[in-house]
Amino acid sequence: MAPAEGTDPVLTDRLLLTPIGIEHSDDLERLYSDPLVDHWTGPWTPLDVRAWAQDMADRWASDGVGKWVAHDRSDGTLVGRGGLSRVVLGDKTVLEVGWVVRDELTGRGYASEIGRAALGWAATFFPDFPVVAFTEVHNLASVAVMRRLGLESSGVIYREGLVEGQPGLHARAPFALYRQVPTDRASP
Ligand SMILES: CC(C)(COP(=O)(O)OP(=O)(O)OC[C@H]1O[C@@H](n2cnc3c(N)ncnc32)[C@H](O)[C@@H]1OP(=O)(O)O)[C@@H](O)C(=O)NCCC(=O)NCCS
Repeated sequence: MAPAEGTDPVLTDRLLLTPIGIEHSDDLERLYSDPLVDHWTGPWTPLDVRAWAQDMADRWASDGVGKWVAHDRSDGTLVGRGGLSRVVLGDKTVLEVGWVVRDELTGRGYASEIGRAALGWAATFFPDFPVVAFTEVHNLASVAVMRRLGLESSGVIYREGLVEGQPGLHARAPFALYRQVPTDRASP
């Protein structure tokens, strides 16, 4: 069942998804110190993490949408983070859906579960906004989640990130862009 307010926590089969606030800085520091997570999303300092958590709190307050922290709903274990951010892409405002799962918990469908919850949430609370996802073209695990969610490849965009085979961050790294297929095209 959809939550009454967009800022309410969301329950999925296995997860409790809570809008990120500054109080989640410690959880996020733990998440971002996992090697694979750090590789794809870092580098992070403790100050960066707090600033990112504060930015998410501000986004929830001003945009009415932001990322969630994900915990196992049965025992409270930290699973990851994900969900939506309002971003401007070209001349369009869109919702970007993303996911990050603790290294030791990948391969269990949690990213897809977060992504599915985000698509449902967007359809309820921001039905007029297109939903997109993007990741470095060689982040195959993340691209696989996009496909699993039924998103459609929509070309390549360039933004700061990793370039395969080259160290460090690059100002114009190629990112695979995926879009949610409009419902009138999805259903025959
Ligand atoms: C990208 C990332 C989130 C993908 O995580 P993931 O665990 O591969 O993705 P999912 O959670 O959807 O798991 C899917 C796998 O779990 C398996 N699975 C197990 N139980 C499942 C269940 N109950 N439901 C669905 N899938 C399940 C699926 O079969 C699938 O395996 P496959 O890869 O062999 O097809 C993860 O690699 C990560 O956090 N990376 C670092 C951060 C990052 O890159 N984030 C993206 C930035 S854009």
